Amino acid sequence: MSGTGLAAGVAYSCGPVEAIPYGEGRAFAVGGHQVAVFRKRDGTLRALSAVCPHKGGPIADGQIDNKVVLCPLHLNAFELDTGCSTTGAAPLRIYPVYLEDGEIVVFVS
Ligand code: FES
Repeated sequence: MSGTGLAAGVAYSCGPVEAIPYGEGRAFAVGGHQVAVFRKRDGTLRALSAVCPHKGGPIADGQIDNKVVLCPLHLNAFELDTGCSTTGAAPLRIYPVYLEDGEIVVFVS
């Protein structure tokens, strides 16, 4: 994983988007952060902290729909767009993520 320096942070390549099936997530270590990248069924990407603030559950293994991810340990729900929990847990951090020539790029500041 390589990083490119930018003014307010670092952009990290996380490899080809094809590595993540539609409707699933994968965890990446980028710049000391554990980041869960989800590829929604519409093909868009979302990136959030990979560690659940409740008891450390693996967020990248959670089920998603168009709006939320469910932590697989105790099923707290977090909005994919904001990281806010809809079930009363502390929020997940969100990260900017985009596609560049078929590669996933996560921005960590
Ligand atoms: S560890 Fe995620 S809901 Fe409990």
